[in-house]
Amino acid sequence: MDNDQIFFHLGEGTAFDNIPASPAIYQTSNFTFNTLKDMSESLQHEDKIPFYTRGANPTTAILQQKLAALEGTEEALVFGSGSAAITAAVFSQIKSGDHVVCVENPYSWTKKLLDKTLSRFGVSTTYVNASDSQGIIDSCQPNTTLIYLESPNSWTYEMQDIEQITAYAKSKGIITIMDNSCASPLYQQPAKYGIDIIVHSATKYLSGHADMVAGVLCTSKTIFDQIFQGEYMTFGGILSPFESWLMIRSLRTLDMRMERVTKNALIVADFLEDHPKVEKVIFSHSKNYPQPELRDKYLKAAGGLMTIDLATKDFQATEKFCNTLKRFKLGCSWGGFESLAFPAVTTMSSLNYDKPNTLVNRIRLYIGMESSESLIEDLTNALNTI
Ligand SMILES: Cc1ncc(COP(=O)(O)O)c(C=O)c1O
Repeated sequence: MDNDQIFFHLGEGTAFDNIPASPAIYQTSNFTFNTLKDMSESLQHEDKIPFYTRGANPTTAILQQKLAALEGTEEALVFGSGSAAITAAVFSQIKSGDHVVCVENPYSWTKKLLDKTLSRFGVSTTYVNASDSQGIIDSCQPNTTLIYLESPNSWTYEMQDIEQITAYAKSKGIITIMDNSCASPLYQQPAKYGIDIIVHSATKYLSGHADMVAGVLCTSKTIFDQIFQGEYMTFGGILSPFESWLMIRSLRTLDMRMERVTKNALIVADFLEDHPKVEKVIFSHSKNYPQPELRDKYLKAAGGLMTIDLATKDFQATEKFCNTLKRFKLGCSWGGFESLAFPAVTTMSSLNYDKPNTLVNRIRLYIGMESSESLIEDLTNALNTI
């Protein structure tokens, strides 16, 4: 099935001859029945036959079908945020006494889930450098039930050798989860390489317009059944039908948006790499990216994220740079239309700004869909203040 079929047609047929160009929003909590038999049938198959919108909803079902097809999995579930999807996925695979192996610096709230929440239930975690695939394997213990990957990783874009890790995990009966937000399903399909559960912050590229928060989990029918009957229905962190509709709308332009941000990101990275006021550019498609083999094996293209270290150790200089930016707004999320700068210092205590190892000069950039000329002009102005 090609992407045109996925984005524009899949799942949208109706029983009527006249198919609406845009699917209906079933903005309803409840579904009603004329007969006891129909009601009973629906409740027995609550994951597929609409009974109550915390379970299945026809608008959301269209979206889920498209997302599963995009990731190449049998099933998908959408959630009210990426964190809700991650929490449901992780909780579904662990119990008290289990051990998790996780990449060292996953998305911050994923780390908090493991360190703060799961530690209260007797689940321990070992963190391993995200570029050390063998180290991830070597850190597994007899009680390891879950390996949690992010490839490319948040902020620094290290990649893992997915095939190597999943081959080991399968031989030991360990489940693998991977956060694929950074690549999007267009640029990387981890299920092809054996990942059991793929999670996304759908707030990012999949929605792509900075107007909603959402998450998705893509997996096999077997794991879907387990999560649907457990964490999905119990935690209840669903996406509303209206937001499902919004994301269906967003998916129509996913490939165009990805193409545009990737093209812009390559131009901007090229500019920054040669700039004397930039000490370092961390970008999956830069000349110096340290894992070119894994990038070429797994990633079809770059996307819009990169991180720079300014050529200064002075907090005031970083602040001046940030405050001078006009096209780039200061903001945390990414994957939308708008270019953003996220200074690492905003996540740190100002008491640490003067300490030698503090990355006061580190800034994550998301390159959006503006013209690359205007973005470069904006960065030039800001860099000139250093
Ligand atoms: C890589 C990654 N994973 C997960 C999340 C969490 O997603 P959400 O903010 O939609 O809950 C984010 C959010 O910023 C993210 O960047």
